[in-house]
Amino acid sequence: MSSIRVLVGSVFGGALLTARELKKVLEPEGHGVVVCEQPTLSDITDNDDPILICTSTTGQGEVPPNLLPFYLELRDTLPQQPGRPFGVIVLGDSSYGDTYCGAGDLMEEAFLETSARKVGETLKIDALETTEPEKVAVTWVENWLTKVS
Ligand SMILES: Cc1cc2nc3c(=O)[nH]c(=O)nc-3n(C[C@H](O)[C@H](O)[C@H](O)COP(=O)(O)O)c2cc1C
Repeated sequence: MSSIRVLVGSVFGGALLTARELKKVLEPEGHGVVVCEQPTLSDITDNDDPILICTSTTGQGEVPPNLLPFYLELRDTLPQQPGRPFGVIVLGDSSYGDTYCGAGDLMEEAFLETSARKVGETLKIDALETTEPEKVAVTWVENWLTKVS
């Protein structure tokens, strides 16, 4: 199987740590995992790997600064990715109300406009409920991988 491309958006390191943990757990299981810590559009346009977004939410439902250039370029140029599988893990805090996990919604909308194919439900990880997002994420991704082919 091809590698998974993990596109990271993180302000304080929680989503980054989560992405790194996914790589640490999944590689010994035989999955290639490329963690893109400063994503650029070429991270997805020069290959056809399944895409996993692993981002937190900042501002008022916004994409973290390290992922923002990728998001804006994706949204502005919409390089078509018909049928390409992608999944979304988003960290947030439900005390933010309407903007809870908003960065995941923004990324999902942009990828759907490229005709990519969403696999699985978005995993929303609430900082009020868990202090170990990586544990929830590993379980979710192992199931997600069974649906990506
Ligand atoms: C300034 C600031 C703004 C935030 N805005 C939101 C928000 O709009 N919606 C949300 O769900 N979480 C929001 N959060 C919560 C973070 O997404 C959450 O704490 C997350 O676990 C941080 O992950 P990170 O360590 O990868 O940055 C905000 C946090 C901070 C500090």
